[in-house]
Amino acid sequence: MPAADAPRPTGDPSAAPPGPAAAAAAEPLTALSRSIAGRVAIVTGAASGIGRATARVLAAEGARVAVCDLDQAACDAVAGEIAAAGGTAAGWALDVADPERIAAVVADVAGRLGPVDILVNNAGVSLPAPIDMDGYEAAWERTMAVNLLAHARMVRSCLPQLARAGEGRVVNIASTEGLGATAMISPYTASKHGVIGLTRGLAVELGPRGVTVNAVCPGPIRTGMTAAIPEDAKATFAHRRVALRRYGDPEEVAHAVVSLTLPAASFITGAVLVVDGGLTVRNA
Ligand SMILES: NC(=O)c1ccc[n+]([C@@H]2O[C@H](COP(=O)([O-])OP(=O)(O)OC[C@H]3O[C@@H](n4cnc5c(N)ncnc54)[C@H](O)[C@@H]3O)[C@@H](O)[C@H]2O)c1
Repeated sequence: MPAADAPRPTGDPSAAPPGPAAAAAAEPLTALSRSIAGRVAIVTGAASGIGRATARVLAAEGARVAVCDLDQAACDAVAGEIAAAGGTAAGWALDVADPERIAAVVADVAGRLGPVDILVNNAGVSLPAPIDMDGYEAAWERTMAVNLLAHARMVRSCLPQLARAGEGRVVNIASTEGLGATAMISPYTASKHGVIGLTRGLAVELGPRGVTVNAVCPGPIRTGMTAAIPEDAKATFAHRRVALRRYGDPEEVAHAVVSLTLPAASFITGAVLVVDGGLTVRNA
């Protein structure tokens, strides 16, 4: 038996000694916060899939969320889900390929929720586009407008707000198609490589203004974009290619996105975070 006054193991709550050491023990263990409570976040493409999950996780962590997507009713539905769970959100119809609408929505969000602290550029389209098909150039233009140029336009519109406190956060949703390629979707693949380039360029450019810019590359995720892939095809692909042997859920991407928006993520910029269940590292 140890003597009554012998040092107790650390971790025993009853072991905290009185006096100055106790005061020191009450100090926070980190000066950096993991809370985004009260921060204002815009999420594009937030009516479905990864965007919806990101809006919900941001709101669950206390952010005030602007849910933006093509259809007002769909945005309102997600904002309603968030409100029902005790969060703060509102919906805005926003086609991110429309620069005038971007400017109007960003101004309205600032007026209703407050100046923007966090921008998640998530809206995206994946159009089938074999290189020799009729309409390839139309597919190219739409894909680049929505998946790439819109990201830059959103940053341009939000920048004065993002930079005002030296703590702005931008997360761009790229894809494992930004790192490798699948046949028949070359506009999509080019756009996602472009998102990574845009992320790196803006990280360097906006670092002096205290705005971090990072990219997340989801692998195969169960969303509207992959809904048409039959279950057996999903299972076969996952078994052959994904280390975790399954598709991911939108929420698993959302948590990675939200991690990059935390105040404590203050020295992460220009990063490319792969969230793919081990797709890109698996050789066999
Ligand atoms: N699902 C996957 O496996 C996967 C993998 C890698 C990357 N991604 C990327 O994730 C992002 C989200 O896609 P998702 O998988 O959640 O698909 P999703 O289809 O479920 O959601 C995409 C949302 O974007 C919206 N959208 C499309 N065009 C828009 C526009 N012009 N303006 C505003 N909103 C628009 C759609 O209405 C939809 O609600 C996309 O950028 C996509 O490229 C998805």
